[in-house]
Amino acid sequence: MVVAIVLIVIAVATVLFHFFSPWWLTPLASNWQQMDDTLTITFVITGVFFLAVNLFVAYAIWRFRHREGSKAAWQPYNHKLEHWLIAATTLGIIGLLAPGLFVYAAYVAPPPNAMTVEVLGQQWQWRFRLPGPDGKLGQSDIRFVSAANPYGLDPADPAGQQNVLVNGSELHLPVNKPVRMLLRSNDVLHDFFVPPFRARMNIVPGMVTSFWVTPTVVGRYEAMCAQLCGVGHPNMHGTVVVEDEASFQAWLKTQPTFAASMAPAAPTAVAGAAAGTPSGAAEDPLVAQGKALAQAKGCAGCHSVDGSSSVGPTWKGLYGKTETMADGSTALVDDAYVKAFVRNPQVRVVKGFAPIMPKIPVSDDELNALLAYIEANGVKTR
Ligand code: CUA
Repeated sequence: MVVAIVLIVIAVATVLFHFFSPWWLTPLASNWQQMDDTLTITFVITGVFFLAVNLFVAYAIWRFRHREGSKAAWQPYNHKLEHWLIAATTLGIIGLLAPGLFVYAAYVAPPPNAMTVEVLGQQWQWRFRLPGPDGKLGQSDIRFVSAANPYGLDPADPAGQQNVLVNGSELHLPVNKPVRMLLRSNDVLHDFFVPPFRARMNIVPGMVTSFWVTPTVVGRYEAMCAQLCGVGHPNMHGTVVVEDEASFQAWLKTQPTFAASMAPAAPTAVAGAAAGTPSGAAEDPLVAQGKALAQAKGCAGCHSVDGSSSVGPTWKGLYGKTETMADGSTALVDDAYVKAFVRNPQVRVVKGFAPIMPKIPVSDDELNALLAYIEANGVKTR
């Protein structure tokens, strides 16, 4: 009897919690109302079955409770009941699966006028590429991937030269324009997810996945990685800024092209990164660039600058100190130490830390900027 009451309380409380829960979906900011509708259908069907099963079990416990002198009765096979249960379960499962198939088919079939944006996932940062004025994305190949060319764009393909390679992990999109997103990974499984768009897609190494979306509300949205991709996964954040067409075009003009990024001694990287730090006026521009890079390259995911312990050693007081290695040897943290570590993180293991730092592709200029930033946070001895 007590068990029956507990079951009824659980069933009723669950339904009440669904309606009065503080955890509602964020307001929809895209064309994908169908995603929410599908979710509602799923909630209704699973909710009805959940209630039916729990209330039936509660009823059965009460109805067939032990009574003095009562005997169990033999119930032969009930064909009629069996058919009803098979039919109801089949309808329920069709109701759960079929709407998703239709929505998914629409989700991966972009309208012909959609602009194309490429998302490149890499432990633990986002990169974005947009086509140039001709609307084409240049060919890429894993053979071309390097520190200077993280997208692996083919230098011989003229279509790639005017491609816009977004600086940092902030993507801008025009409002009310369909966008076709192409997703690639440079290493492991990732998943690009912008919750208010109700849009997400796995990113599988070795293939290009895609979906399309029309952002409908101006604003700043967090893009997160929704696939466990290593220790830095919780820090794999990006931003999607939805704005009017004019602001989008103005932003687009500030971003470097592939041709500019490959030109020798391209000043775009420095200018772009430093521009991301408005308060950088009083700051050394190289340090400001290093700070922006630490965010964009994902370093900040594992290395704090406030002394707090994280996946990797904090950068506060790191530069200039004597670090102890796992094998008991010691080393002074100077330019050579930091550079050697970034270039080949597996060679040394710092005591107390697992040898998990990935080889992050950085150019010599970027490494110098990062070094300046690390040094600025260190014990000044140079
Ligand atoms: Cu990338 Cu999780």
